[in-house]
Amino acid sequence: MRKIILSLVVLAALTGCGSNSSTTEKKEEVKDNTKHPDYIKGLALIGKSDCLTCHKVDEMHTGPSYRDVANRYAGASDTVAAYLAGKIIAGGKGVWGEAFMTPHPALSKEDAEAMVKYILLLKK
Ligand code: HEC
Repeated sequence: MRKIILSLVVLAALTGCGSNSSTTEKKEEVKDNTKHPDYIKGLALIGKSDCLTCHKVDEMHTGPSYRDVANRYAGASDTVAAYLAGKIIAGGKGVWGEAFMTPHPALSKEDAEAMVKYILLLKK
């Protein structure tokens, strides 16, 4: 009798896990943004600048990871792109910590916003 109960418990646990993992799989299904024109353009601009000396996509470096930036701001209001572009141009600190982002006065607002669009597409 005990064995039967035990196997029922095990079975319940197994089927429970099974359905759980299928729902998480669905959630983790991410849209492929890498072919998005904004992604391609922004990434190219970032590659030409010095951003990657301080930022990585997935790991914190001198600056926050771009994925963290995206998760923090994506879906926020439209003004956020302008704010972030302005911050890239002006530089600054204090939002993520005490490390300082150097200013990028040579960047146009359009290019800085294009970089921001790429970063925001990294949201997971
Ligand atoms: C010298 C290192 C350095 C370089 C170069 C750099 N960053 Fe940063 N960046 C930082 C740091 C440090 C922060 C966090 C600033 C803060 O806490 O307010 C940051 C923050 C950011 C943020 C988030 C701003 C916020 O207010 O949340 C964005 C977006 C960003 N950087 C994009 C860029 C882009 C694009 C470039 C290239 C043009 C670039 N960074 C170059 C160090 C750098």
